Amino acid sequence: MIESGALPRVLIIDDDTSLLESYMVLLEDEFQVYTAETGEAGLELLRREDVHMALLDVRLPGIDGLEVLRRIKVLDENIDVIMITADRNMRIAVDAIKLGAYDYIVKPFEIDDILSLLRRTMEHQSLLREVLYLRAEVDSRHEMGNVVGRSAKMRQIYDLVTRVADTNATVLVNGESGVGKELIARAIHQQSQRRANPFVAVNCAAISEHLVESELFGHERGAFTGAVEMHRGKFELAHTGTLFLDEVGSLRVDLQAKLLRVIQEREFERVGGSKTIRVDVRIVAASNQDLRQMVAERTFRDDLFYRLNVVPIHVPPLRERREDIPLLAQHFLVKYNKAFGRQVQGLTPEALTILTHYHWPGNVRELENIIGRLVAISRHRVLEAEDMPLDLQSVRSQMAEDILATGADLRQARAEFERHYILQTLDQCGWNQTETAKRLGIHRNTLLTKLDLLHIRPLSPLE
Ligand SMILES: Nc1ncnc2c1ncn2[C@@H]1O[C@H](COP(=O)(O)OP(=O)(O)OP(=O)(O)O)[C@@H](O)[C@H]1O
Ligand SMILES: [Mg+2]
Repeated sequence: MIESGALPRVLIIDDDTSLLESYMVLLEDEFQVYTAETGEAGLELLRREDVHMALLDVRLPGIDGLEVLRRIKVLDENIDVIMITADRNMRIAVDAIKLGAYDYIVKPFEIDDILSLLRRTMEHQSLLREVLYLRAEVDSRHEMGNVVGRSAKMRQIYDLVTRVADTNATVLVNGESGVGKELIARAIHQQSQRRANPFVAVNCAAISEHLVESELFGHERGAFTGAVEMHRGKFELAHTGTLFLDEVGSLRVDLQAKLLRVIQEREFERVGGSKTIRVDVRIVAASNQDLRQMVAERTFRDDLFYRLNVVPIHVPPLRERREDIPLLAQHFLVKYNKAFGRQVQGLTPEALTILTHYHWPGNVRELENIIGRLVAISRHRVLEAEDMPLDLQSVRSQMAEDILATGADLRQARAEFERHYILQTLDQCGWNQTETAKRLGIHRNTLLTKLDLLHIRPLSPLE
């Protein structure tokens, strides 16, 4: 964990000593800088010091930069390594990224470039190193591309995505609105060998009915009134890439038949045309309707359903994976701080408790909107329970009422009081654990144990 107040630690490995000195001067306001002139010395230092990031010259005496990179990753895969290359030879950069480098920068560069790169890397570190305290399992995976979440349910999805990405199998993603279906579709594309080719998304529900066919399959010039020019459809645009058919359940029945044929034959004709067009497209479809139900009601073709449902991926609603909420909240905090130029540092434990207990009918999208709005308007350095919209705050009084309603015995009531008192003290001390423990007159380890027992999981500040 990156503790608040402490500067992020950067190791710079470069054999140019004058350069090392200027790095020192330029970065020392924001970072604690360590330097080494050789790969060997750098690796030795990493065995002793816990650093967050490394800036690594590709060309070094002794073991070369790429090999140093490989060894750093063996030592601690969570260290983000930025390679410094002296020429624009992309091959080395590509090799470095393959070996696990986080990014690269080409010499010569401006100090601002390196500063912004390090700051960006730092944000990645904050997420990577799990800003939630009391959870130290940094080795387990909790992100895939832009998809955040480490619940067992999300990990199952990552596994599935990794396994199917490189096949051309059709995938059907389903789940409630706002759970992240499109994000999963994009992740499949990103992890496939088609990643450099187009990802084309069509929302079948958003296009007016008489235009859907020409949007998907294109039309020839003069096909209908207003068709003054030939128009290529999404299937053609997605050639060699992935076509994402969103809300596939709203497709007209006659177009379902045409879609079925494309999936089977990979060919079709543009509207008003007779020329057969062949395409190589991977299809990922999504729906928040229950297509099986629609098949039973005969509003969706069963043959098409089976063609689409080769690999089903169900994305569960947020309320079924509440353990992802703190991480997602943190992720959106970083995102909207950047977007709005704000510096909101985190959430109070109480605010976080409210977020994790709410039922989120709008799922991740609703969480994202709320955090975005709060970051934009908040006048505080941290988001507090009082900042939460009222319907969320009602969760809090609901919890208190629940306790009273259950007729808690003295032990439970005392625990509840203790919880509130600790939360309040933590708040007053800006979540500094040492300070809080001192004020409460207990040892810091005792405080940690209590937080654990009381299921208090505050987000630590971002610095
Ligand atoms: N696991 C996640 N990590 C990070 N961001 C997420 C995650 N899930 C969803 N989001 C964000 O929430 C928003 C909604 O996600 P997305 O558009 O993928 O949902 P959807 O299931 O396609 O919703 P709809 O059914 O309404 O189209 C997006 O801004 C997305 O970036
Ligand atoms: Mg969507």
